[in-house]
Amino acid sequence: MYLTDEEEDMLAGEEGHATQKAMQILVALGKIYDAERLVKVSSVQVSGVSYKNLGDAGLEFLSELARDGKARVKTTLNPAGMSLTDWRAQGIDSGFAEKQLAVIDAYDRLGAEITCTCTPYLAGNEPAYGEHIAWGESSAVAYANSVIGARTNREGGPSALAASLTGRTPLYGLHLIENRKPTLVVDIQTLLRFPEDFSAMGYFVGRLVKDGIPYFRGITSAGLEEMKSLSAALASSGGVAMFHVEGLTPESRVDVAGTESLSFTSRDLGEAGSILNDEGSPDFVAVGCPHCSLKEVATIAELLEDQKVKHELWVCCSREVKRQSDKAGYSGIIEKSGAKFALDTCMVVAPIEELGYRVVATNSAKACHYLRNAGLKVRFMPLEECVVEATKGS
Ligand code: F3S
Repeated sequence: MYLTDEEEDMLAGEEGHATQKAMQILVALGKIYDAERLVKVSSVQVSGVSYKNLGDAGLEFLSELARDGKARVKTTLNPAGMSLTDWRAQGIDSGFAEKQLAVIDAYDRLGAEITCTCTPYLAGNEPAYGEHIAWGESSAVAYANSVIGARTNREGGPSALAASLTGRTPLYGLHLIENRKPTLVVDIQTLLRFPEDFSAMGYFVGRLVKDGIPYFRGITSAGLEEMKSLSAALASSGGVAMFHVEGLTPESRVDVAGTESLSFTSRDLGEAGSILNDEGSPDFVAVGCPHCSLKEVATIAELLEDQKVKHELWVCCSREVKRQSDKAGYSGIIEKSGAKFALDTCMVVAPIEELGYRVVATNSAKACHYLRNAGLKVRFMPLEECVVEATKGS
């Protein structure tokens, strides 16, 4: 793989141990994927942040890099395993908290912005169309490629960090225009009315398309909430890192003649909803997977006005969206009801299975997928129903 003089110097260790290690990771990756060269990236989003996923080995790796490593481009973080400030109120064990704070401290020394959100595009890390980036969180990757038109592969923790420390990533996969073409046309033959419909549909299609690129026809409108729900669902049941929606996403003007196709009907939508539901009455309600937008927070506040929650209700969002919510007056209404903002974290990366909950109600297919893997039962329902469920009690 071709390296510039500056990149050769990094590889030779002339810019420090961490940069050398990062360059070794990128060169090894580039060789595996036959990349001709590296490409500069404008931002990085790192997904390995929760101590629940990283463990001691991950913490040790980060601490070693933090001795002399520094981010060269804007670097933001995925959710951690707890709120960085209110972890006690979340019931988090102090042993876990100590390790999680050590992880955050290492990222801080590395020069990352301590954002801890899976919607960096709502919290100050929004790339432009055509920009090369190196992002890790799967839903954000799918959103960035598909909705924004930026270019990123689905980076693992070490490769995203390596991109941060060098400002580069190997030029392969979705960085190349020829790899961004649809592999499967999906004709949507039913009305998708709510973000949850997009979530269920994405979960259903993700299982069929696996790591391909679906091209959706028949969707006439989809806003930010629908697109982020679709991104997360496709990336959780499959390995989708990019999709197109005819007439709506920026690279959807492509020729799909001859591409394999299938239909998605109202029956499929019903089936998708039912495979995401277990038996049981919810004892925990969590919304905001991916992290809530301000519009979703506004809806929650409207539903909770003069209400009290009887079950634990987590509203997962970024600190930036919470700041906007404070300003708009939504936060006071939500907190007065007894619901909690879960900042810096989410229902999946926090160890909620250890907090004694058994059945989680959520409006996200992705959350259902991972919570089930963690041994919890799930109920999939629209945002409005989730909030009402939390106020009902058993
Ligand atoms: Fe975000 Fe956690 Fe869902 S990281 S996409 S809220 S699983």
